Amino acid sequence: MSTNKTNKDSWNKHAVRYQKGVNFPFDRVDYGIVNGLTESDLSLIGNVSGKKVVELGCGAANCGIALAKQGAIVTCVDISEKQIEFAKENATRENVDIRFIISDIEEINLPEAEYDVVISMAALGYIENIEKVFLKIKNLLKDKGLFIGSLPDAISSCITSRYLWNDPPETHSYFYTGATKWKWEDDDDFEFITYRHPISEYINMLTDIGFYIRKVYEIQEQLEHVEKEEDLFHVLYPNMVVIKAINIGYPLNA
Ligand SMILES: C[S@@+](CC[C@H](N)C(=O)[O-])C[C@H]1O[C@@H](n2cnc3c(N)ncnc32)[C@H](O)[C@@H]1O
Repeated sequence: MSTNKTNKDSWNKHAVRYQKGVNFPFDRVDYGIVNGLTESDLSLIGNVSGKKVVELGCGAANCGIALAKQGAIVTCVDISEKQIEFAKENATRENVDIRFIISDIEEINLPEAEYDVVISMAALGYIENIEKVFLKIKNLLKDKGLFIGSLPDAISSCITSRYLWNDPPETHSYFYTGATKWKWEDDDDFEFITYRHPISEYINMLTDIGFYIRKVYEIQEQLEHVEKEEDLFHVLYPNMVVIKAINIGYPLNA
């Protein structure tokens, strides 16, 4: 089965548990980490009133809804019907009008050079060919449009592969870029397939296709929210890398 079909089926099965677990609010942008830094800490997206925004891998659309409340014209995309079901219910309850599309990010069919902002929180790690998706994102954006995304921080992936999950030895390297197959709970009968890259690779891919990198943050759960002593370890390294990139239309290495 393909990566995307596996992840779609698994997200359909896992959605209820995920939404209960993260419980993100609908009035702020979270960068995909529970108790991590938010848009009010990082100020990456800025004023979106009247701006056209696409959210890729939206889940329950917490971010899309928060931006729609600020006046953005929002399109939310996710591969999982179950996640989109949550997202639609949330948008109705929060009284915002959002266009929802059930689609694989790799297959989205939206107009090019149309959007001011593309966001994607904790979703692009599910994509095997991330370079192709970065190019798709660039093509969706207007000139000087913004891409703001949180992606797996490879340092976190290699530490947890080695010390937490006992994954195969090749995954313990920071430089591993192959697939990692994992289960949310040990006895789940479904699995996810994710990919990560060293931060330098994300930056080089983005700049090579014509993005200017404006900011890079590495974020983790904040110390004050850690409840169990054994979890203190996980505050010592970043969990996600958040990148803000501007579509300047030509490769910086040209
Ligand atoms: C960890 S959740 C993050 C959801 C949301 N952005 C958040 O921060 O809560 C990852 C999301 O990516 C979606 N996803 C995974 N692979 C995808 C793909 N190829 N195309 C579109 N969505 C995908 C999943 O269905 C899931 O909703």
